[in-house]
Amino acid sequence: MVVLPRMFVIRFETRYDESRMSETFNHCLGLRYFSKSDIRYILDITQQIKLGLFAPNLNKAMVVSVFFEPSTRTRLSFEIAVNRCNGQPYTIDVSTSSLSKGESLVDMMNTIAVMGASALVVRHSDAGVPHFLHEQLRIPVINAGDGYHEHPTQGLLDVFTMEDHLGEMKNKRVLICGDIAHSRVAKSNIWALLALGANVIVCGPPNLLPTELADFGVECTHDIDSVIGTVDVVNMLRIQFERQSGIVMPSLAEYRSKYGLTLDRYHQLQPHAIVCHPGPINRGIELDSEVADGKQTVILDQVKNGVLLRMAVLHALLKGNQ
Ligand code: CP
Repeated sequence: MVVLPRMFVIRFETRYDESRMSETFNHCLGLRYFSKSDIRYILDITQQIKLGLFAPNLNKAMVVSVFFEPSTRTRLSFEIAVNRCNGQPYTIDVSTSSLSKGESLVDMMNTIAVMGASALVVRHSDAGVPHFLHEQLRIPVINAGDGYHEHPTQGLLDVFTMEDHLGEMKNKRVLICGDIAHSRVAKSNIWALLALGANVIVCGPPNLLPTELADFGVECTHDIDSVIGTVDVVNMLRIQFERQSGIVMPSLAEYRSKYGLTLDRYHQLQPHAIVCHPGPINRGIELDSEVADGKQTVILDQVKNGVLLRMAVLHALLKGNQ
């Protein structure tokens, strides 16, 4: 298993930040590297697929998924997306792979690549692993979540779902609330929403909210009640207990009372506003159960759109196979 030193991650992040994506997609590593037109291109293909106007065809290309962290939505939706695009999906079970016999990550991935993989989908607890593999293998790599760095297809499916309900995100107010510091979803949402011209507000406890985000034009607050009635979208995040040691709040009940989307707060939303959550949800902590199932809540739309969005990303990366 490769564990990347922090400097290594920063070096890769800096390099990719300098050379942004273009119309020729060769990776989906993070939305920080996507221009507005890159994002709009993916959203437009997704819309065409949704309307039945376009059906990607991967022409039997092999897409291999390797998840070093648990997943339900992302892993299954990639498998379904590859199938629907006439590709061949394969998923490595990491726990029974030869990594347990001491094989290095690069040797394993090279082995997968020479068996004919056209693209890799990778989730890893360390930031930078998908970037590293993209450099090593020279085949398209899709980041399915790396540490608390990025989760680009989640960010894209979130903004697609927001626009599906509300129209273009330019000048819309989006509140992202919860454990911002440890959330890769928050980062990908922020980059995509800023690129599309939305006003982004982040809210969370002081120890879970990096105020450096203000440098990128993001409004930071610890007071959800001061903004809840003014926004078009609330994107609620769970506390990433797996990325922290120690207790971050005196109690979960206090966290809910200060930062949760309780039923009382839900009733303060504007009538057109929507509630998003990337899942998995923790009912009774960041979302009251009635809110999770409420009429303004679009969590299951996000899941459905996730398959279509991933079909669009696969098309953008592998259209040379068609
Ligand atoms: N939203 C998300 O990434 O969910 P999974 O962990 O179930 O893939």
